[in-house]
Amino acid sequence: SMKKVNKICCIGAGYVGGPTMSVIASQCPEITVTVVDINQARIDQWNDSDLDNLPVYEPGLKEIVEKTRGKNLFFSTEVDKAIDEAEIIFISVNTPTKTYGKGKGQAADLKFVELCARNIAKVAKTDKIVVEKSTLPVRTASAIKSILENTGNGVKFEILSNPEFLAEGTAIEDLLHADRVLIGGDETPSGQEAKDTLSSIYEHWLPKERVLQTNVWSSELSKLVANAFLAQRVSSINAISALCERTDANVAEVSRAIGTDSRIGPKFLNASVGFGGSCFQKDILNLVYISRTFGLNEVADYWEQVIIMNDYQKRRFAENIISTLYNTVSGKKIVFFGWAFKKDTNDTRESAAINIADALLEEKAEIVVYDPKVSADRIYADLDYLDTRTPEENRQLLTVVNDPMEAVQEAHAIAILTEWDEFKTYSWDTIFEKMLKPAFVFDGRRLLSKEEMEEKGFQYYKIGQS
Ligand code: UDX
Ligand code: UDX
Ligand code: ADP
Repeated sequence: SMKKVNKICCIGAGYVGGPTMSVIASQCPEITVTVVDINQARIDQWNDSDLDNLPVYEPGLKEIVEKTRGKNLFFSTEVDKAIDEAEIIFISVNTPTKTYGKGKGQAADLKFVELCARNIAKVAKTDKIVVEKSTLPVRTASAIKSILENTGNGVKFEILSNPEFLAEGTAIEDLLHADRVLIGGDETPSGQEAKDTLSSIYEHWLPKERVLQTNVWSSELSKLVANAFLAQRVSSINAISALCERTDANVAEVSRAIGTDSRIGPKFLNASVGFGGSCFQKDILNLVYISRTFGLNEVADYWEQVIIMNDYQKRRFAENIISTLYNTVSGKKIVFFGWAFKKDTNDTRESAAINIADALLEEKAEIVVYDPKVSADRIYADLDYLDTRTPEENRQLLTVVNDPMEAVQEAHAIAILTEWDEFKTYSWDTIFEKMLKPAFVFDGRRLLSKEEMEEKGFQYYKIGQS
């Protein structure tokens, strides 16, 4: 059995909440979806009449928002009102890694989630299904539950775990054609009803068999494990890329050769400058923290190695730039093509570019960044957050430009850090002419052809190829 749903509320208008609710609204025209956030500026951006100003860039997103906003999709700061009216409440707030106290640097900081739960407990007057949508460590649902169960006002809550598997840059595609949707909940009659109710939302556009129901623990853990496995593939191929550079093996040929084994599969085997994004590192750190909490040190060490390898890959890339440029980059102009953690997103969280810039700035390089979607404010905020040097020094040493051709003028080197398609179509002959010679290109995304670049005269380094 299931409940009829008229209104949905989502707390948190970020990279997960915004796109997910937009797709639900577009696929469920009879349901009113309200996305709320305490950040007024962010809500204003979601409501901006110019759809190019949405706070999240995702291919296909603005078209969906244009169709649904003001009809059955609303963005608002009136959190309490939206909670009060909704039958289903998604919690989709940020869960950063703790920067203080117990579990510092590893555990997820649940304070935003807890605040949401307390707010729901305070406001709700009718029964609610509360859906945990943020990536959270196993056992969060039970924490939310204990906060909600003790309100004493007779309101009943069902807590579901419904982890999001969308990848940024392909969020809309991933939501519309999800491999699976995971819904974890209690194995009681009311828990089953809640699971079926949430399932019915997704079944508006996904075949029934793609909606998997599990218990809460399995659902929460599966999210961490899925991301850990994906990140592990990237670290595994990156480890091999270092070996390929010392031998005559080519990492692309190795990827292809192993990927054709159906047990291994071809996806997620692209060697790179290192994985980034808001999830991989955070989720693995979480897995490591949970394992250590239970005394499973070998398990913790095993997964931690995925991050150690990723840090090594970033450091290796930066050190290679420095050593290739005759062991000094002081005062040298190094152009970054790309700052986002992957193409087709304006998100920069945990982007490899941040650490590589930091390493080169320590050596007093002059960095010029061009990224088609990332703002200068974001780039400086990323650097300032590291606290390696003062904000003034960061602004002195690093500049951000809107024109890639201006960036490369008299540059010593270019580092390709994001795989934006447009970098492939540039006139690399023109770029060669504008640069100082020897003209170095360090391709951290394996975007260009080594043969062609060398033919044009570049000193071209490509990850995973000698
Ligand atoms: C990831 C998961 O894919 C998604 O299911 C989950 O919901 C959130 O975390 P996301 O971080 O948005 O999504 O992007 P993803 O495509 O997984 O890429 C993560 C990082 O790995 C990027 O920096 C990407 O460049 C890098 N990567 C990915 C590689 O370096 N090589 C690859 O082969 C694949
Ligand atoms: C392996 C490779 O599969 C094969 O391609 C290569 O040519 C030789 O090495 P093999 O060792 O014969 O083949 O068997 P395989 O099926 O790969 O199993 C290896 C071990 O892993 C076995 O002990 C198996 O029980 C174990 N295993 C495999 C698991 O524990 N879990 C799994 O999911 C798969
Ligand atoms: P994600 O990638 O998980 O979507 P984001 O940081 O992009 O993470 O978005 C999370 C959003 O949640 C932010 O816009 C933040 O302002 C919002 N948020 C955090 N705490 C609360 C809260 N208690 N009530 C409403 N919104 C919140």
